[in-house]
Amino acid sequence: MKFFVDTAEIDAIADLSDLGMADGVTTNPSLIMKSGRDILEVTKEIAELVDGPVSAEVVATEAEAMIAEGRKLAEIADNIAIKVPLTWDGLKACKVLSTEGRMVNVTLCFSVNQALLAAKAGASFISPFIGRLDDINLDGMELIADIRQVYDNFGFETEILAASIRSVNHIADCARIGADVITAPPSVIKAMVNHPLTDKGLAAFMADWEKTGQKIL
Ligand code: E4P
Repeated sequence: MKFFVDTAEIDAIADLSDLGMADGVTTNPSLIMKSGRDILEVTKEIAELVDGPVSAEVVATEAEAMIAEGRKLAEIADNIAIKVPLTWDGLKACKVLSTEGRMVNVTLCFSVNQALLAAKAGASFISPFIGRLDDINLDGMELIADIRQVYDNFGFETEILAASIRSVNHIADCARIGADVITAPPSVIKAMVNHPLTDKGLAAFMADWEKTGQKIL
């Protein structure tokens, strides 16, 4: 399973990239706003930092304008995935841009039917939002499982990019289900290392080591 980092913060991306934990990056207009950076400049920097796909989102809502914005974003670097929303215009833009050989990430997916449409429009990635479904008392993880089953039923090659991840349990569940990619905030990816028994075990080893009076170096 690939890990994408859901942020436009350069330092956080570099930190994870150095460890081989950033197979790609996803951004959106809210994350660009949060970074306080210019979209073209920060996206270029991110695309230079990681080898994998870097999603940059269009902000137009009409297909022709989305296509124009998508082409401009794709000029930033070879590893740009153009992010378009799951609307009818977004699907039209996806079809045109993917036919041109560009990577397209169709975002704001909340149903299996939407995921089917995106795959048929040639999306490289479909982004179902787990956390936002959980927020309204629906089951985000059930959507990931349903899309996995439907894509496998028909051999769609669109990668399932599980998004809106809020906890480490979301990541473990996505791995069990077989999502191709997760995108999560740096803090959630880093929290995957935590386990109280690791901390407790390490403290006990350190205490016993101290008693030996030995040194390795
Ligand atoms: C990723 O592509 C999405 O933009 C992101 O995961 C949304 O997460 P949120 O629902 O926590 O804002």
